[in-house]
Amino acid sequence: MNNSMNKETNPDGVPRDHLAPVFAQFPLEVSNARGVYLNTPEGRKVLDLYGGHAVAALGYGHPRWGKALLQQAQQLVFQSNAVALDVRQRAATKLAAFCGLGLDTVFFVNSGAEANENALKLACKMTGGTEIIAVEGSFHGRTAAAGAVTWGADAKWYGFPEKPFDVKFIKPGDIDNLATLIGDNTAAVIVEPVQGVAGAVDLPQEFLAALRFRCSENGSILIFDEVQCGVGRTGYPFAANMYGVTPDIITTAKALGAGFPVSAMMVSDMVAPYMKIDSLGTTFGGGPMACAVVEAVLDIIESENLLENVRQRSAEIRETCVVGPVVATQGAGLLLGLRTSRPAKDVQAELLQLDILTGTSADPNVLRILAPFILQSEHVEQLSKALARLRA
Ligand SMILES: Cc1ncc(COP(=O)(O)O)c(C=O)c1O
Repeated sequence: MNNSMNKETNPDGVPRDHLAPVFAQFPLEVSNARGVYLNTPEGRKVLDLYGGHAVAALGYGHPRWGKALLQQAQQLVFQSNAVALDVRQRAATKLAAFCGLGLDTVFFVNSGAEANENALKLACKMTGGTEIIAVEGSFHGRTAAAGAVTWGADAKWYGFPEKPFDVKFIKPGDIDNLATLIGDNTAAVIVEPVQGVAGAVDLPQEFLAALRFRCSENGSILIFDEVQCGVGRTGYPFAANMYGVTPDIITTAKALGAGFPVSAMMVSDMVAPYMKIDSLGTTFGGGPMACAVVEAVLDIIESENLLENVRQRSAEIRETCVVGPVVATQGAGLLLGLRTSRPAKDVQAELLQLDILTGTSADPNVLRILAPFILQSEHVEQLSKALARLRA
């Protein structure tokens, strides 16, 4: 793919500029955005159903999001975790209450991978275990520990000479083998309840419940990676709420800041005592700007009834968008996979020509919808009409 901003390209089409060319580029330049639409310099108005990898949960230009950021910037732009801040306390209290599952101790960091890195480290330290169990298809980030539990990373990009722990992968839904796989050395099981990069794969409830049961029985820590599926994305505060399964740790990011980089680990009262002074750390994590945004995002989700909106729009997409090349849907809320009869990347390119941006996934036949929570019926209609125009 090329990028119209970069006039010069290498022979393979990768832009020649000062940015490391590690990302394939959408054939799209964005100059500004409002609501659920991206505006291009050529005057195109593109419906954004991808949200910058699931980040833009409130769309673009939400007035209360911007106001919270601006006010905090004027009041106090930064102090580290070594200094007590009311806004940090408020954000943690709000997040724990929003989740409502008793994961009442919060540690703010900066990215999804960093939250997972800390969760895995804590689990190893707590249990003395040397092995982590992960689920096939999962994506947990690109750092040493998070990458080690990411399915397919070894073949594609894992660069470290050794893993920080032993890793075993289980098949999603493979309940029968849990008792043998989760054993003496298992520090933790890490799982995305709704797998994102895999293609919006909602794991069976019985599988997650069985993981909960076996981890408790064995003394292993159950980590839900809700970096992509958390903070309202499924139409529930967290996928854990939707499934009725409470892990020991939830990690979350993306929608949590809705555009401002922030992530968090939320842990149970059983885990919390292991978070002692100096056991974890960060410079930027829990900064006042990030915390002001977290407080505002959660407040907006609640006061604008966005969980209900996510569930309604999700139901509409499932009802009206199995048309043209789409043969089925999967996932939850606005983390939806549209299964396509032909390569999803072709359907994605054709939709973009019709001014709709969607995502692909690790499954070549699944198009990923990660729409803002403020999506309206008219936008769903725009998608279904566009799909109906495409070859089946
Ligand atoms: C489920 C999940 N976990 C972790 C990550 C990594 O997050 P980050 O890119 O913020 O490090 C991602 C990113 O896509 C993700 O989808």
